[in-house]
Amino acid sequence: MADDLKILVVDDEPIIIRSCETVLKSEGYNVEGTLSAKDAILKMEQRPYDLVFTDLKMPEVDGITLIRWIKQKRPDTGIVIITGYPSQDTIKDALELGIIDYVPKPFTPSVLLDVTQRAVTWVKGKTPVVHKEKEELPPAMIQEMDRVINQYKNKPGSSIPVLQRCQEIVGYLPPEVQKRIAKGLNMTPAEIHSIVSFYSYFTMKPRGDHNIRICLGTACYVKRVEEVLNKIKEGLKIDVGEVTEDKKFSLETVRCLGACGLAPVMVIDEETYGAMNPKKVPEILKEYA
Ligand code: FES
Repeated sequence: MADDLKILVVDDEPIIIRSCETVLKSEGYNVEGTLSAKDAILKMEQRPYDLVFTDLKMPEVDGITLIRWIKQKRPDTGIVIITGYPSQDTIKDALELGIIDYVPKPFTPSVLLDVTQRAVTWVKGKTPVVHKEKEELPPAMIQEMDRVINQYKNKPGSSIPVLQRCQEIVGYLPPEVQKRIAKGLNMTPAEIHSIVSFYSYFTMKPRGDHNIRICLGTACYVKRVEEVLNKIKEGLKIDVGEVTEDKKFSLETVRCLGACGLAPVMVIDEETYGAMNPKKVPEILKEYA
């Protein structure tokens, strides 16, 4: 649901702005575009935006400078980068600056919408809500998490292994768990949250007994993976990011499952299903019922 969130797209390539506007407006998002970071700053001085999608390489003022400005002057704005082939260092720098996610260029409408949905969840997640997970976590789970955190404390690069272990222990990473990890590792909750949002491996919601991942990457998209996704949604009566009532299945989308030659691809738990089509869906789901 688009609500009344305001999105600003910053990219020196007009075609990228047009594509973002077309895709996001079709879903009811309130989108504006601008061709330079300088102009984006002028716009943001006038009014706040909930989300900014920005390119990194732009003349005059680059994306990293823009991100730093936003973090200082508009810290409530969520940031997503739009980038070509990001190196690990670029991703690391961007994560350290607190971005939510990235959209790889060239992107498909599905990928853009998927990232946008995640970013919107992040923006909304900052609204104070009452979480019950804290009281519900059994003491043994908390103890085990603390043991893991202490084991990795003060070791460089420990956040990802700690998050992985804690997700294995709890099943997902609700805000209370993220805060506990942040405190234990001397990081800010925002830093931990950025990592959790960035990697599709991590989840902030409980998963079903069987987790279905559908690839929305380019190779799968051109082979109509949307039809497979719709068939699953219809069959299980859930949307992406949801769990069936009986907690048996959860549904997620990802940008590439690394099996492009088999497109369109679906993965259930650790099992990969290639050359998918809607007709195969009921039979496959039956195996897990
Ligand atoms: S694009 Fe779907 S597996 Fe790579």
